[in-house]
Amino acid sequence: MSPSADPAPAPAPAAAPAEDVRMPAPELPEVLNRANGFKSVVEEAVNSASGSDASTDPFKLASDFAYTARRLKVFTIGAGFSGLLMAHKFQHRFPDMRDIVDHTIFEMREDVGGTWLVNTYPGVQCDVPAHIYAFPFDPNPNWERFYASGPDIENYIRSTVKKWSLDRDIQYNTRVAGAQWIAEQGQWKVTVETTVNGVVQPARDEYCHVLISAQGVLVHPNWPSIPGLRDFKGHITHSAAWDHDFDYSGKRIAIIGNGSSGIQIVPQMTKLPGTTVRNFIRGPTWVYYRAPPSKHLGRDDPDPNPRYTDEERQRFQDPEYHLQHRKGIISRTNKSFYIFMKGKNNAEGMKFASEQMAAKLNHDPELCEKLIPKWELGCRRITPGPGYLESFLEPNCSLTNSGITKISEKGVHTADGEFFECDVLVCATGFDVSHRPRFPLIGEGGRDLAEIWKDDPESYVSVAVPHFPNYFVMMGPNCLGGHGSLVESLNWTGDYFVKWLRKMATEDIKAVAPKEEVVRAFCKYGDQIHKTLVWTGSCTSWYKRGTRNGRVTALFGGSAQLFNKLITDIRAEDFEFTYNTANPFRFMGNGFTAFEMDENSDLAWYVEKAEKLEDSQVVEGENKVDPKAAAKARFNELTADVSNGTTIST
Ligand SMILES: Cc1cc2nc3c(=O)[nH]c(=O)nc-3n(C[C@H](O)[C@H](O)[C@H](O)COP(=O)(O)OP(=O)(O)OC[C@H]3O[C@@H](n4cnc5c(N)ncnc54)[C@H](O)[C@@H]3O)c2cc1C
Ligand SMILES: NC(=O)c1ccc[n+]([C@@H]2O[C@H](COP(=O)([O-])OP(=O)(O)OC[C@H]3O[C@@H](n4cnc5c(N)ncnc54)[C@H](OP(=O)(O)O)[C@@H]3O)[C@@H](O)[C@H]2O)c1
Repeated sequence: MSPSADPAPAPAPAAAPAEDVRMPAPELPEVLNRANGFKSVVEEAVNSASGSDASTDPFKLASDFAYTARRLKVFTIGAGFSGLLMAHKFQHRFPDMRDIVDHTIFEMREDVGGTWLVNTYPGVQCDVPAHIYAFPFDPNPNWERFYASGPDIENYIRSTVKKWSLDRDIQYNTRVAGAQWIAEQGQWKVTVETTVNGVVQPARDEYCHVLISAQGVLVHPNWPSIPGLRDFKGHITHSAAWDHDFDYSGKRIAIIGNGSSGIQIVPQMTKLPGTTVRNFIRGPTWVYYRAPPSKHLGRDDPDPNPRYTDEERQRFQDPEYHLQHRKGIISRTNKSFYIFMKGKNNAEGMKFASEQMAAKLNHDPELCEKLIPKWELGCRRITPGPGYLESFLEPNCSLTNSGITKISEKGVHTADGEFFECDVLVCATGFDVSHRPRFPLIGEGGRDLAEIWKDDPESYVSVAVPHFPNYFVMMGPNCLGGHGSLVESLNWTGDYFVKWLRKMATEDIKAVAPKEEVVRAFCKYGDQIHKTLVWTGSCTSWYKRGTRNGRVTALFGGSAQLFNKLITDIRAEDFEFTYNTANPFRFMGNGFTAFEMDENSDLAWYVEKAEKLEDSQVVEGENKVDPKAAAKARFNELTADVSNGTTIST
């Protein structure tokens, strides 16, 4: 029972007691009128209660009402989608947070956007449908194309930030350079460095009760450790640090890597006038979509990234229509999750995808051999990769899967003895996906998270870490990703953090951290589920920190629905709690709630309506459908059937 479960009907004004059905009968006058005396009587009783000083005796009666929230200072690291979602939750979505949270976002760059600020390479775009890759609180009806371009996403983020003032608490050009848990104070000491006009200012320490990591995982470029890389005399760039001042046309271009970034860059470089492009890959990647994107729009359009018509955009202006459109895509995406289960379903998907890829490669035997994977569909991230496969049919584009042995001043050498002389070296070699913080993050007892996560990053459902109290993580190890839009799961994660903040603030909690044994069990069981999923297949991928047989550290072991359910409520039994005093019930304050002091509150809100027998009664044996058996049958059916869903990339 909670007061909010039963909104009180508007009460009659105090001046007209005869009409107030909740008033005592005339022969039983109200002992104390809440408006004119009750509150002060409570205060008087508290003040006169004998006892020692509250600072030495936490059981001395407190004067606050029960559940009175204390203010919490919260720092968020990063102003990408995750950090901005937090800003929206604190400023708008949860009005009570305005009274609880004193928020600061530290962003080391000069602007919002994170991933989309950093990745500006030619061809960068999302590869989940744009309509589901947006802030859930303000989806964009005006996307130009089915897959939004990087610049369109960046502009959308900026305009949404402006509209909702989400930059209110951001300190730009301010890098978090260290953080240390101070147990006695129940606070994090956070060391930050601000850069002004290119000059790093002296570091300063700031303190907060709760530290939220929204640092992202795909943000720090990984330069390949290839001998001689630094000897190269031509132009060298990384997909996540693209140099736009350089003219790539007319150049010989080596592109290392065929992850999602490399796959988007190859066709763009091939299209430029006068270029010669060679893609250096170590293995294949699934380049595939189950159905042409236009199927989502209910029309035929061979364009792999169809443009929305004016009429379609007009229809999306209707919020209800737009909602149903977004729900349709998300529903199909969730249904398609079952293709990520190993076995018959996935094998059939592989066959279908191989045929699609072979057709795009014009059935060229050598290209098919090098480019079509033999491992599980989805083991490495699937990309629709518009134009990538087709590029190799162009005379100016080629590839090799012979390993790079070294790079010299003029080009790239491979194990087969070949040399590709080039003017440009593009490293589409991904990111530092270790999850290890790039600054000292010191928890209880001097534990350093970078050290703890050196071999294996383990977390509580991706959101928290044992011995790192009041540290909450967005996109932590084993977060929900790999299919559908990440933004949805970041949004749920933010809601979960709000629940913790509310609990901490109103229940006098100093510190919370997940129990170590719970996290170990969570990871162990997740690993078992992962054995049934394609991400533990025989490919190398960043989901396994670049290994072939390592643990899946990037993705959650289970479906989106399960992840959502796991973090919808706080599983308090999984956490260690420390209170601000030795009295864990100090939050009970003076023994009354502020709610009941409001003369407008309905103090009989919990009185139930009489049930009707026929509505509530389920007679044993009469329930025709056993819901558990039905779910099991459906699960078996889905995992043996590849005809579900269409959107299966990240
Ligand atoms: C090219 C590319 C395309 C992608 N496409 C998709 C897609 O189609 N669909 C999808 O679901 N996901 C996609 N992703 C994943 C994408 O990263 C997430 O969807 C999302 O943008 C992550 O947001 P974030 O805020 O958690 O992290 P980020 O966007 O990475 O933001 C993290 C922020 O933290 C800041 N930061 C980091 N360290 C510090 C520090 N020490 N101090 C201060 N600030 C710091 C960074 O500067 C950055 O601004 C893509 C990723 C890439 C790289
Ligand atoms: N929405 C989108 O369209 C989109 C676009 C880009 C990125 N993303 C996101 O970002 C993630 C990362 O994508 P990414 O392409 O940037 O990185 P990635 O998937 O990690 O791919 C990196 C590529 O570089 C290769 N590589 C790395 N080090 C190398 C070396 N020393 N020598 C030779 N090759 C090397 C890798 O080969 P191996 O695989 O053999 O190691 C791989 O082909 C994606 O999975 C996705 O989540 C999304």
